[in-house]
Amino acid sequence: MKAKIFVKNCEFEGEPKDSDFSLTEEELPPLKEGEFLCVGEWFSVDPYMRVHELWSKVGATMVGSQVAKVLESKNDVFKEGMYVVGYFGWRTHTICDGKNEPTPGFGQPLIVPHLEKLPMSLYLGVLGMPGNTAYFGFLEICQPKAGETVVVTAAAGAVGSHVGQIAKIKGCKVIGFAGTKEKVEWLKKDLLFDHAYNYKEVDVDVALKEAAPNGVDCHFDNVGGEMSSKILRHMNPRGRISVCGSISAYNALSSEAPKASLVQLPMILKELKMEGFMVMRWLDRWEEGTTQNIDWIKEGKLKYKETITEGFENLPKAFKEMLNGKNVGKAVVKA
Ligand SMILES: NC(=O)c1ccc[n+]([C@@H]2O[C@H](COP(=O)([O-])OP(=O)(O)OC[C@H]3O[C@@H](n4cnc5c(N)ncnc54)[C@H](OP(=O)(O)O)[C@@H]3O)[C@@H](O)[C@H]2O)c1
Repeated sequence: MKAKIFVKNCEFEGEPKDSDFSLTEEELPPLKEGEFLCVGEWFSVDPYMRVHELWSKVGATMVGSQVAKVLESKNDVFKEGMYVVGYFGWRTHTICDGKNEPTPGFGQPLIVPHLEKLPMSLYLGVLGMPGNTAYFGFLEICQPKAGETVVVTAAAGAVGSHVGQIAKIKGCKVIGFAGTKEKVEWLKKDLLFDHAYNYKEVDVDVALKEAAPNGVDCHFDNVGGEMSSKILRHMNPRGRISVCGSISAYNALSSEAPKASLVQLPMILKELKMEGFMVMRWLDRWEEGTTQNIDWIKEGKLKYKETITEGFENLPKAFKEMLNGKNVGKAVVKA
């Protein structure tokens, strides 16, 4: 059995290019006692992969999670036919003992039940890491109250679209910023955001003066940079800012790292709380998030979209397109 694997070809400079990746093959050995072999059916492409690249070595397998099916097993827990979500990286087939994770630091493979009426890819999105990022990162850090005004950036992406809908469920007024007219329409018409703007066409200050004349109470920040600094100046006293990501800087050339505006004065004068987080903080409460998210889907309160790229070989393309905003909702690759 041969596994196809994407490895990092060189240090990335700016936007990832096709030449940054090499597709290689690895002959897999027979299974030892305690091991299982699985095949990836769905692959995730996520912004953190661009950041992870900064400390991974040339020649390393590209990092990433997948929904995989156990093909063969000599392990008592991970049995043939089961599905797992594992951080195995960009590789078609993986041998695993269920304990030693091929990508250290991302937790052990998680056995997931077959979703009869929903696609299994949701374990990479609304029922997986991005869904729990929205659930815990928004509720725990922003602690939104009914009637408050919430701003979400990268609002039509996997995390942002989910956060905005939780904010609506909690009775908040929601304002989203996204990068195309189609995304803005989706946020307003389908997800019922109160206001949504194309940040490439409107000035964030002007938009917030119109949509949030009484100020912003919670900001779920996916983007960072100048957009965050502008939103900061619209925060109400005792506002909360959940710092989830800073995608505006991920592709920045090392020589052109963006400079941040001073945040201290507005933070002091308005007594703001700004807190960064890594979703793995809530690993021990993982099931709480996924259970609530699936209940909201069943109740019709939480909608999702996926942008599906066909073919394992197209992982680099899907990754580049996601960083460039081509995805609506969660970007996934179907093997
Ligand atoms: N802290 C954590 O534990 C954690 C976990 C998961 C994700 N995150 C972070 O959450 C954010 C969203 O992740 P996601 O998985 O949901 O990705 P996503 O939003 O589905 O996809 C990325 C989106 O970012 C937007 N974008 C790209 N460059 C931008 C720029 N210069 N300015 C503004 N927007 C830009 C694009 O949409 P537009 O068309 O709107 O530009 C693109 O579709 C990322 O920053 C990610 O790193 C953090």
